Amino acid sequence: MGGTYSVTPVTPADYRRLAEKRLPRFLFDYIDGGANAEITLAANVDGFRNIALRQRVMRDVSTIDTSTMLTGEKSAMPVILAPIGMAGMMARRGEAQAVRAANEVGLPFTLSTVGICDLAEVKRAASKPFWFQLYMMRDRGVVQELLARAESVGCTTLAFTVDLAVTGMRHRDLRNGALSSSLQARAVKAWEIGSHPQWLVDVALRGKPHGFGNLADRVPDPGRLEAFTAWVASQFDSSVTWKDIEWLRSVWKGKLLIKGVLEPDDAKSAVAAGADGVIVSNHGGRQLDSVASSVSKLPHIVEAVGDRADVFMDGGVRSGIDVFKAVALGAKGVLIGRPWVWALAARGQTGVRDMLAVMRQELRIAMALSGVNSIAEIGRDAIDDLPRG
Ligand code: FNR
Repeated sequence: MGGTYSVTPVTPADYRRLAEKRLPRFLFDYIDGGANAEITLAANVDGFRNIALRQRVMRDVSTIDTSTMLTGEKSAMPVILAPIGMAGMMARRGEAQAVRAANEVGLPFTLSTVGICDLAEVKRAASKPFWFQLYMMRDRGVVQELLARAESVGCTTLAFTVDLAVTGMRHRDLRNGALSSSLQARAVKAWEIGSHPQWLVDVALRGKPHGFGNLADRVPDPGRLEAFTAWVASQFDSSVTWKDIEWLRSVWKGKLLIKGVLEPDDAKSAVAAGADGVIVSNHGGRQLDSVASSVSKLPHIVEAVGDRADVFMDGGVRSGIDVFKAVALGAKGVLIGRPWVWALAARGQTGVRDMLAVMRQELRIAMALSGVNSIAEIGRDAIDDLPRG
């Protein structure tokens, strides 16, 4: 991930390094890691590195505008903060800090089903409508009640995540004993917490409550990774099919995006079931290891459904230049996951805001040097070589 800084962090990699120092190891690895050998995690980032752009000159680029419409709302750039479970364990009331940062820059924020702050707390912090992410639970009554709450706080867009029929095998979490409540695992965790006093004071002591805000009354013994994983295994519904999307479509009146689609056929099924769009994603390389990078799949999905639905993508976006590349390949917008959580863990709201501002500046420069003034003008011709695979 290269790069060091001497005065101020600039890139996601800089914030990552700070987050690593600040967080207990098991929390840092929970964010940073992927499934199994982390092949897909690396591929997501490499996928962007392997795309070449065209340099264009002598075009009037004096009126650059990075703003765009995302599911009916104006956004300062085609970027959304991705849903991240337990973000509120990385900094005090983390989701509230992150939504403030996103809104300061003018971007949408997505609250995870398993966020620490609940819908009402995020709503109080937000200055523009935010998105909600849903996992299907066996008890449809719980789902319906969650959706009603999301609607009542003004969520415009629902991202329904479909790539977590079961939870991927994340070796780092297992090694860290993050999913275990054995005496040894607890001792190691206590040691890790004790050796990170800034986190201990900011989050463990002053950042309570640590339950899953939206499900606070449902998850037993909340705020611990092993409790969370056990609850996911027992409550998340792995029998879900496209029929359930039709049901979801009938109960959710806002925009509906299906998150975690990687194959063109699945994208077509999502649209046929009534979705307004899809998010091309492999869950940041945390689910089926060895699937292709999101960005390599993006053009195929744009080809399959791009004329009928909004196609978003996530996985491996680490700069404004990556945002530019995804848009050039047909994405309406990109979601970023780890970068905002690293920035949040490192520097809270200020960190997230500053990192997003740098990304926006990078996007602006990429637009200028490839000869376009608006997001709508960014097209396939901006790419020199299409990625393979
Ligand atoms: C996630 N992701 C995720 N997705 C989702 O739909 N609901 C969730 O609760 C979570 N939780 C979560 C936690 C952590 C720590 C990570 C890193 C990711 C996936 C996330 O929304 C997004 O798809 C990826 O993070 C995108 O990849 P990058 O940007 O992290 O490379």
